[in-house]
Amino acid sequence: MAAHEQELADTQRQHWQDTYTAHPGMYGELPSTPAVYAAQAFHAAGAKDVLELGAGHGRDALYFAREGFTVQATDFSPTGLSQLRDAARDQGVAGRVTTAVHDVREPLPLTEASVDAVFAHMLLCMALSTKEIHALVGEIRRVLRPGGTFVYTVRHTSDAHYGTGSAHGDDIYEHGGFAVHFFPRDLVDALADSWTLNEVHPFEEGDLPRRLWRVTQTLPR
Ligand SMILES: C[S@@+](CC[C@H](N)C(=O)[O-])C[C@H]1O[C@@H](n2cnc3c(N)ncnc32)[C@H](O)[C@@H]1O
Repeated sequence: MAAHEQELADTQRQHWQDTYTAHPGMYGELPSTPAVYAAQAFHAAGAKDVLELGAGHGRDALYFAREGFTVQATDFSPTGLSQLRDAARDQGVAGRVTTAVHDVREPLPLTEASVDAVFAHMLLCMALSTKEIHALVGEIRRVLRPGGTFVYTVRHTSDAHYGTGSAHGDDIYEHGGFAVHFFPRDLVDALADSWTLNEVHPFEEGDLPRRLWRVTQTLPR
């Protein structure tokens, strides 16, 4: 990793740590709309276990657990994951949820073909280079079982913040300390190479609003 990429990664990790410390449970207790969609898609595919990347304090991981899935939740913020574990105990689903502090720039800490489904809401569009995003999706492919489903969301180049704020190169722009990689459509298509691209669904979230795509892609059986 180049020095400026390492510096950005370290700054972002600290920024997320500070944000979760200052605002515990900041995304609320309700699941995101992509998680509600994903649970239906995962049930329909017969999935039993879910890997969530960038789970934060766990609004979606806990929803998957309440839906009966076994959940492995990862994030590079120990503070977010600590809040997730506390909430899992409070909600009586701690037996179905495990957590691991993990930076998605590193290989996933799972064996190949070991999970049925992978979910990542606003994780691939963090301060990751295009090369790191391709490597991550390669890792997701490695750990998913044949026929497995991957649902992810990303902010894209029609978002109001695209092209504004501090530019870090590679379509990454920073606002209020949060760096975002705004996805062009051809990156979505490239990441689905050798997968089946089932759907690219546009939606909006929040007051800005953030403009996102919810992408569903599956592995051949
Ligand atoms: C926009 S938040 C979304 C959190 C959660 N998915 C949700 O919707 O409630 C992005 C999350 O990704 C995590 N994150 C950012 N970069 C990461 C990285 N390189 N590796 C692992 N987690 C990362 C942050 O700590 C944060 O929890």
